[in-house]
Amino acid sequence: MSRYDTDFSNMGMMTRAIKIGDAPDPVTHALNTPIYETSTFGYETAEEYDEMLARGAEWEPDLYIYSRTTNPTTTVLENKVKSMEGAEDAVITACGMAAISNALLANLKAGDHVICSDDTFMCTSSMFAEVLPGFGIETDRVEILDESNIEKAIKPNTKVIYLEALSNPQLKLANLPKIAEIAHAHGCKFIVDNTFLSPVVMRPLALGADIVVHSGTKYYVGHGDSLCGVVAGSREDMNRVRFIYDNLGSHISPFSSWLTIRSVRTLPLRVERQCQNAMALAKWFETRPEVEFVTYPGLESHAQHDLATSMFTPGLYGGMLCIHLKGGYEEMCRFADATRIPPVGTSLGDVQTLMFPKSAYNNLIRFSVGCEDVNDLIADFEQAFAKMKE
Ligand SMILES: Cc1ncc(COP(=O)(O)O)c(C=O)c1O
Repeated sequence: MSRYDTDFSNMGMMTRAIKIGDAPDPVTHALNTPIYETSTFGYETAEEYDEMLARGAEWEPDLYIYSRTTNPTTTVLENKVKSMEGAEDAVITACGMAAISNALLANLKAGDHVICSDDTFMCTSSMFAEVLPGFGIETDRVEILDESNIEKAIKPNTKVIYLEALSNPQLKLANLPKIAEIAHAHGCKFIVDNTFLSPVVMRPLALGADIVVHSGTKYYVGHGDSLCGVVAGSREDMNRVRFIYDNLGSHISPFSSWLTIRSVRTLPLRVERQCQNAMALAKWFETRPEVEFVTYPGLESHAQHDLATSMFTPGLYGGMLCIHLKGGYEEMCRFADATRIPPVGTSLGDVQTLMFPKSAYNNLIRFSVGCEDVNDLIADFEQAFAKMKE
C-alpha cells in the first residue's frame, strides 16, 4: 500500500486538516494540490465520454466533465471540509450566501413553509423577508432561545427549521439537540449556519442538525483573501444540493478552492488561538469601568454559558465577542477611532482582529478576535479607552 493511501479519518483534527485530501499528482509528483484552471475535461472516445456522462448524472465524486459541476481542486477541499464537519459529503460554493440559498432551495418549493430564527446575518434576513416569499415560500421568524416558540410556529407545510448556531450579531446560542428533536418530530430538515463558531468549536451535525452551512469566507478561509461557502451533511442531502448548485451555477473558482485548502490546514491552530485571545479579552473587558457589558459565551455572565460548555469542544468558546460601552454613539466612535490594531470593517474569522461598530444595535461593538499577541490588543484597547475619555 502506498503511504498516500493512509486512512487519516480517525486521526486528530489537526492531522486531518493537514493530511486529508492531499496526495501527490500521479504524473508530476507535485506534492501540493494544483489549481486546475480548466472549464472542461477531455476524453478519448465517444463511448468513454458517454459512460462519464451517465456516472456524472449520479453525482459520483472524483469524476470530471465540466467545472461548473465538479473540479479536482474543489474535490480536495470538499474532502477536507467533510472531515472537519464529520459529514458524509460536503459541497463547496462561491460564498456563504450561495451555500445558504442552495441548502434552502434544495429543501423548499412553492407552497412550503420555513421557520428562521430572529437574529441572523443581514442578507439571510432579506432572503427570508423578500427572496423566498417571492418564490411562493412562506417564512416565519421566531425568537429561538425559548424553543417552544419554534414548536408553536410549525405548520403542516413546514419543511425546514433554519438558524445561526451563534447568531450574528447578538451572539445568541441555540440549543441544537432540543431544536433538532422538535424538527425531526415534525418531519422537518434542520439547517444550521455555524459560521460564527467553525467546526473547531462545534460540529452541529453531531448535535442533531441535518445540514450545516458556513460562510467559508470567515474561519475556513481565515485570511480575508477569498470568498467561499460550505454545505455539509448526508450524501443524500448533498446530492440534492449538488443538483441545485449545478443548475444555479454556484461553484467556487479553483483558485479560491486552492486558497481555502491552504487555509484549512491551519484551521484548528488559528481557531484555538482566536478562542484563547477572545477569552482573555472578554475577561479583561469585564474589568473595565468604561464597559457596560460584554457578550461572550465563554463568560459565566453569558445567558447560555452552560449550554455552550455542553455543546462546544472543551475549553473553546469561539473568537466572536461583543461589548457595549457606557455612554452612546459618541463613545462607540471615539473608542473605535482611537484603536490602532483592528481595522474597522465587516467580515470575521481572519487572523487579524476585526472591529465592527454597530449603531443599529444600541452601539454594540463586535470583535472578531484574531491571532495577534493578546497583550498588544489589550494595550491598544487600553490606550483607546484613555483617548476616548480625553
Ligand atoms: C453568519 C453568516 N452567514 C452567512 C454569511 C454570508 O457569507 P458570504 O459573505 O461568504 O456570502 C455571513 C456574512 O457575513 C455571515 O456572517
